[in-house]
Amino acid sequence: MSETVLDVRDLEAGYEPGVPIVRGASITVRKGEIVVVLGPNGAGKSSFIKAIAGLVPITGGTVFLDGRDITAAPAHTMVRLGLAFVPQTENIFPLMSVEDNLRVACGILERREIPGRIEEMYAAFPDLVRQRRTAAGNLSGGQRQMLAVARALIVHPKVLVLDEPSAGLSPKFVSMVFEMLAGIRKSGVTILLVEQNAKAALAIGDRAYVLVEGKDRHEGIASELWNDPVVAELYLGQRPQLHKGGAA
Ligand SMILES: Nc1ncnc2c1ncn2[C@@H]1O[C@H](COP(=O)(O)OP(=O)(O)O)[C@@H](O)[C@H]1O
Ligand SMILES: [Mg+2]
Repeated sequence: MSETVLDVRDLEAGYEPGVPIVRGASITVRKGEIVVVLGPNGAGKSSFIKAIAGLVPITGGTVFLDGRDITAAPAHTMVRLGLAFVPQTENIFPLMSVEDNLRVACGILERREIPGRIEEMYAAFPDLVRQRRTAAGNLSGGQRQMLAVARALIVHPKVLVLDEPSAGLSPKFVSMVFEMLAGIRKSGVTILLVEQNAKAALAIGDRAYVLVEGKDRHEGIASELWNDPVVAELYLGQRPQLHKGGAA
């Protein structure tokens, strides 16, 4: 079994004292895996990964990254510790050019590394090089997500954590985003992905967890989970909507 990169044990977190939103959730992400966190709307998926990233106060449990306890680490130290978080929205600077968006994401790199690393991102995401002088706000929805992911990857994170990268995108861009993530995993990057788009996420994932009411209710091999009765039950009300998303 390959080594554990992210180990989250019995995490409890919330926005107000005495109102836990994440209520004892545990997951493990191993090196090179794509791990998917699914769950109904309001299950606490965003709160869970934001807590891991230091953005929601943690009241119990632990988060280990590469064997190091990062439970109490402030959000601004996460990139240096090796955790790159791509929020669902506001994950780029719309008024800055594509290139400046990449440049300002290089904060922890040595200055001499930066130009080469930007070129590596352009090689990995050719759409971005064609638009390097374009204001990021003028990119298509799919290209914006590409830029957000490139900004996260540019510092060589140990784990890339994404909150619903396909949300709000048209079906064409949804497939583009999932293909991009599958490609990134192939290059050796470890990924933790929260998604509403269960079918498409399970298609590229290795393992998945289902979060319900702030707790991991179910875990399985991604390719098997779509047909799992527990998942079918949890998603029964949402399945038609998922198909409408175009990924079915
Ligand atoms: N900033 C916030 N302040 C207070 N409560 C919040 C905040 N963000 C989310 N919540 C609450 O946390 C619960 C889980 O929300 P969320 O983590 O966004 O779920 P999901 O991502 O699974 O849809 C919801 O009841 C929501 O109202
Ligand atoms: Mg969410």
